[in-house]
Amino acid sequence: MTTFWSTWICVLTLGSLIGLTWLLIATRKGETKGSVDQTMGHSFDGIEEYDNPLPQWWFMLFAGTLVFAVGYLILYPGLGNWKGVLPGYENGWTGVHEWEKEMAKADARFGPIFAKFAAMPVEEVAMDPQALKMGGRLFASNCSVCHGSDAKGAYGFPNLTDSDWRWGGNADTIKTTIMGGRIAMMPAWGEVLGEDGVKNVAAYVRHELAGLPLPADNKADLQAGQQAFNTTCVACHGANGQGTQAMGAPNLTHPAGFIYGTSLTQLEQTIRHGRQGHMPAQNELLGNDKVQLLAAYVYSLSHAAGAKDSPNEGQGE
Ligand code: HEC
Ligand code: HEC
Repeated sequence: MTTFWSTWICVLTLGSLIGLTWLLIATRKGETKGSVDQTMGHSFDGIEEYDNPLPQWWFMLFAGTLVFAVGYLILYPGLGNWKGVLPGYENGWTGVHEWEKEMAKADARFGPIFAKFAAMPVEEVAMDPQALKMGGRLFASNCSVCHGSDAKGAYGFPNLTDSDWRWGGNADTIKTTIMGGRIAMMPAWGEVLGEDGVKNVAAYVRHELAGLPLPADNKADLQAGQQAFNTTCVACHGANGQGTQAMGAPNLTHPAGFIYGTSLTQLEQTIRHGRQGHMPAQNELLGNDKVQLLAAYVYSLSHAAGAKDSPNEGQGE
């Protein structure tokens, strides 16, 4: 900050503080002790104004804020180029410096623990209670916004606790997914197939692949749907609709794993307009050591003793 602006800020700030103090004291002088019944002589629709002194508590509170302001301006940066008498604000005060200080402290404390887990295979880390606790905390603050605090997903976000994997559920694949992120590319087929074509193939997916019932009055041509599937969809979803993890093309024979819903309307929507699910990469944000713990945590959710398929609740029927 140039000297001019620094002085400008000092004069304005100190000037207002002095001005307010004067105002407080000046208006207090000469006031009548205790409350009086005399009014100011104003009347607004019959509402009159008394001429009473400021309540004591209000006066003290105001004086308190003035003392606080002076103390604060001495201790912390705030007055132009003044750095405050407290140590640690040589570069001025910003949230970034505070955050960096916190991070440096945390790294010094947890660095060795992270290094130990980073050197172990993910499956082994997944059996360490301390690692799972740390991974769970990282998950709560970085992943639960999308995948839910119980990791069971939501509409558009996959359940990470079941055995349905779009990209693959072994430990290393899970880590690759989290490190590098994923972008799924399901093309839009509305123009290629036409409206009837979309309805036919949606009914085929729901009835023949996912094994769910169709409404009695459904007029879709399942055979035409199958034909369309075999020409347009097999390349990614596979001949039997079981999916291709290398492309993130989901298994269509297992309705519990659908993230965009299984109702005919939802299926038609998916097929007509396509879908591009985006899992954001964490390598730059969190780095290898933290992702290692997250991968172990995610892996443990579906590989703990007794883990089994759980239907994704509330995602279509
Ligand atoms: C180029 C590869 C590709 C082709 C071709 C393709 N899909 Fe997909 N499909 C994907 C991918 C990848 C996803 C996952 C999209 C996501 O997660 O956002 C997907 C998702 C879906 C879903 C949603 C599943 C869910 O989780 O809710 C349905 C239904 C579907 N595809 C049906 C079809 C049908 C029917 C066809 C043929 C008309 C087809 N797909 C053709 C790649 C493909
Ligand atoms: C902005 C939302 C968002 C956040 C934050 C997010 N994810 Fe995801 N994640 C997704 C989406 C969407 C997908 C599905 C991508 C697709 O359509 O294939 C996904 C997919 C995944 C998969 C692959 C699941 C499978 O079936 O193969 C894993 C593993 C995963 N996320 C873990 C994490 C972890 C761990 C974190 C925290 C560091 C995280 N995600 C944070 C949105 C998010």
